[in-house]
Amino acid sequence: MSASKPLLRALRGESQERTPVWLMRQAGRYLPEYRALRAKATGFVEFCLNPELATEVTLQPVRRFDLDGAILFADILLVPHALGQRVEFRDGEGPRLEPIRDAEDLAELSERLLHETLAPVMETIKGVRAELPPETTLIGFAGAPWTVATYMIEGCGGTDYEHSRRMMWSQPELFGELIDLLVDATISYLGAQVEAGAEALQLFDSWAGAVPAALFERAVVAPTARIVEALKSRFPHVPIIGFPRAASLQLAHYAAQTGVNAVGVDHMTDLASVAVAVPRRVAVQGNLDPVLLLVGGQAMRDETRRLLTTMKGRPFIFNLGHGVLQPTPPEHVTELVSFIRSSA
Ligand code: CP3
Repeated sequence: MSASKPLLRALRGESQERTPVWLMRQAGRYLPEYRALRAKATGFVEFCLNPELATEVTLQPVRRFDLDGAILFADILLVPHALGQRVEFRDGEGPRLEPIRDAEDLAELSERLLHETLAPVMETIKGVRAELPPETTLIGFAGAPWTVATYMIEGCGGTDYEHSRRMMWSQPELFGELIDLLVDATISYLGAQVEAGAEALQLFDSWAGAVPAALFERAVVAPTARIVEALKSRFPHVPIIGFPRAASLQLAHYAAQTGVNAVGVDHMTDLASVAVAVPRRVAVQGNLDPVLLLVGGQAMRDETRRLLTTMKGRPFIFNLGHGVLQPTPPEHVTELVSFIRSSA
């Protein structure tokens, strides 16, 4: 039965007349119904770990739009939180963490409470599966080790990753230990998501583009390959999407070496070149500029048609090149999805 879900079929390598579509950050502040529920929880971590609220927020975009995928409502920074690092989200400032800079800081983290802390996420997954339309796929996710490590090391986003790059070059063993811890934690977290009902998984490597080329293999490809291999040995049927944002020329290597079923492509990267560079067995997901979703209208439709035409005959999942931006009018999402449906 599940094999008939369009998103799962694309992830298994089928090209289809009707291109499946979902959007990164499809749940969130651009939706008034999200803002209304968000006001009910104090902190963002508490919000993510409240199964009743998180289930509802996961379902909001699926109710409003004709999407093929629901993405679990959670955050990539729940893993550092569950490992014992202090994580806070301040209004308008983004995340703040107590930074990890040396072996002593790292020694304070542990997987001991990982399962217990993240158990509410599994309740959310069960709640969503119980209510999801039969054609819709539930996507679980985690941050990839490098991207999560940058937040853990820097203590915030929006930096040039100087501390993270410094640690990679000058304390490679410490960096390796942090990555190993994240690989392990991510395998058990995603494994638990699958057991709870996630049908596909995405690894968000949002800051892959910041890795020096000489370290890309060690920071991005190898840790991702280890996670994929471990999950595939336990759950061979569950497809995995890797999103190494801004990986540029390294995307082809990533697609060939990590074992992912699909690669997410950012909007800076030309899809026609991706179609040539990536092995045919790997499905492609992407890559409308989120700003075009904000702009809407003819420009959005023209570019959408161009992307669909470029990927004709290949297993393709329509998505943005990064997440939905907060000022996006929800009606533009309605328009985008109906345009994709009518282009089949
Ligand atoms: O709809 C969905 O995609 C599901 C939920 C989801 C969130 N974050 C909810 C969220 C997902 C998949 C993420 C992933 C995530 N979180 C990433 C990778 C994707 C990307 O955008 O690159 C990253 C880097 C994070 C870390 C993070 N979380 C940041 C930097 C911020 C602050 C910036 C911002 O957009 O507000 C968050 C907070 C966050 N995560 C919000 C939401 C809806 C906003 C919090 C709020 O409502 O106040």
